Amino acid sequence: MGYETGTKMHFSLLEKLGAAVLICAWTIYGANQLSGMLVNATPLEQPAIAVAAVERAAPAEAASAGAEVDFDTLLAQADPAKGEKVFGKCKACHGVEEGGANKVGPNLWGVVGGPKAHMKDFTYSATLADMGAKGGKWGYEELNQFLISPKDYVAGTKMSFAGLKSAEDRANVIAFMRANTPNPPPLP
Ligand code: HEC
Repeated sequence: MGYETGTKMHFSLLEKLGAAVLICAWTIYGANQLSGMLVNATPLEQPAIAVAAVERAAPAEAASAGAEVDFDTLLAQADPAKGEKVFGKCKACHGVEEGGANKVGPNLWGVVGGPKAHMKDFTYSATLADMGAKGGKWGYEELNQFLISPKDYVAGTKMSFAGLKSAEDRANVIAFMRANTPNPPPLP
């Protein structure tokens, strides 16, 4: 009896010990597997995100770089003779000859790279006069923006002109004004 009970207890103790060892082994094995998964997952996640970021960034960068390159390229290829034809749309209000009189708009001799509101004897809109007083200059990009839509670039401008839709026309007419400017700034 005593022996049987002892044996039973012995076995059940062994069973308990065995179970404990098994649970321990499983816990350690499981933890190892889990941490292995986590360690493996971390290096995988980063390249996946990096690739996605690069894919998302690339078209935006290309588009903005493309837009800049485009107008600079157009300016580099611009033809002052073609610009003189485009200037036909400006002639009613502007002269370009040195010492020429102001008309509805100011004379534009030497305007490229010069100060905004560059003619001392012309009465500009308050906005353009203020831009000039603050040291604003007519660089290539400024002229391009103004000619896209004068009233958007100079709020309340006196220049009643819708703007030039064609980037090529803007580049050519800027080249024509550049040809009528002594010592113009270098092309971008
Ligand atoms: C209907 C008349 C009119 C037409 C057409 C016109 N302009 Fe003007 N332009 C003006 C007036 C007026 C101003 C002065 C704007 C102000 O004071 O806000 C001006 C200002 C300018 C200025 C700034 C001059 C400065 O001293 O700061 C430039 C550059 C210019 N015009 C270029 C052009 C070009 C290029 C065209 C043709 C594509 C053109 N304009 C067509 C009337 C005109």
